[in-house]
Amino acid sequence: MKVLVTGGAGFIGSNFILYWIKNHPDDKVVNLDKLTYAGNLENLKEADNIDNYSFIHGDICDTKAVEKAMDGVDMVVHFAAESHVDRSIMEPAPFVMTNVVGTQILLDQALKNNVKRFHHISTDEVYGSLNLNDSNKFNERTNYNPRSPYSASKASSDHLVKSYFVTYGLPITISNCSNNFGPYQFPEKLIPLAITNILEGKRVPVYGDGLYVRDWLYVEDHCRAIDLILQKGKIGETYCIGGLAEDINNLTIIKKIIKIMKANEKLIEFVKDRPGHDRKYSIDWSKIKNELGWSPLHSFDEWVEKTIEWYENNENWWKRVKSGEYQKYYRKQYGNI
Ligand code: NAD
Ligand code: DAU
Repeated sequence: MKVLVTGGAGFIGSNFILYWIKNHPDDKVVNLDKLTYAGNLENLKEADNIDNYSFIHGDICDTKAVEKAMDGVDMVVHFAAESHVDRSIMEPAPFVMTNVVGTQILLDQALKNNVKRFHHISTDEVYGSLNLNDSNKFNERTNYNPRSPYSASKASSDHLVKSYFVTYGLPITISNCSNNFGPYQFPEKLIPLAITNILEGKRVPVYGDGLYVRDWLYVEDHCRAIDLILQKGKIGETYCIGGLAEDINNLTIIKKIIKIMKANEKLIEFVKDRPGHDRKYSIDWSKIKNELGWSPLHSFDEWVEKTIEWYENNENWWKRVKSGEYQKYYRKQYGNI
């Protein structure tokens, strides 16, 4: 089996490649990645000496590069995207280009190549926002209601993927998952930003009142879910994937991290809210549980501790990532804090 992974140098894509080569050593894995600010080949050092793994530096919006990468491929697992909501608010155009146009180019080439499966990685953000007191959860039948340029571009890509199934019979599956956390996450996202700022003795920016809720999923649980969908998922279907954390808000998370790291709560800095900030996401993952036998294994409290440990032990990784372009972005987003 030859598997094309797009965006494999990013956070979830690199965790997925490491997971795949460990659990499916006979498969060939090709990683197609543009290496944007978020792509980092250091994440894949463990794969460097594996004969069945190869890397292509290329853009999913470049038809020729995609054509080459797609040669002989059986399965596509599509992670490549612009993924950060705050950057989509600053500059939406790259989100439309990569997430919408790039996905369409990949779909065309997958169709031409008769791939056996095109799996699209999407997000719970396409479903919009729940109220804090709402006990409903998002599921596969929830109407789409994206509210940021990022989620609007992901929603568009989901629609395109579904249209290639209905119109051309491309064998697709889609997963919409919640907020991942774990090793190799770029420190623009809440958890790694908080951990690395604390390690540097810097303040931790909390948007608005801090009472926003996400449904945290450990990245390895996500990789296992994708594996099951690839092995046993029904063609044309969508699967929602969520975690074990029940309604933990951002402020509680930051306080937990501060406590574990024996830092001071004075580091918390309330800052201007994100425009259009979605209040709450919560996922009903009963379909993937009942149909494919998946459930998350990693509790939030235990795995946030392990994630902190990972950042403590990999200072070189995040210090390099936080230099250069990151500094410019940070000043634009947070000013002088
Ligand atoms: P990331 O930003 O860490 O990584 C994205 C990767 O895609 C990078 O390696 C980047 O270089 C690559 N890339 C970007 N544009 C490209 C292009 N035009 N051509 C080729 N490669 C390109 O993202 P992530 O957090 O790992 O997310 C991966 C996928 O999962 C995305 O599709 C995202 O929408 C989805 N998702 C993420 C989360 C989360 O919590 N991180 C949750 C739900 C869904
Ligand atoms: O829900 C899935 C989505 O999760 C993915 O589709 C996205 O790719 C991923 O980036 C993530 O989006 P969020 O916007 O939820 O993640 P982020 O880490 O940016 O923010 C998490 C919460 O923390 C959110 O309520 C905003 C808040 N926040 C974030 C940052 C960066 C802060 O309060 N302060 C911050 O500095």
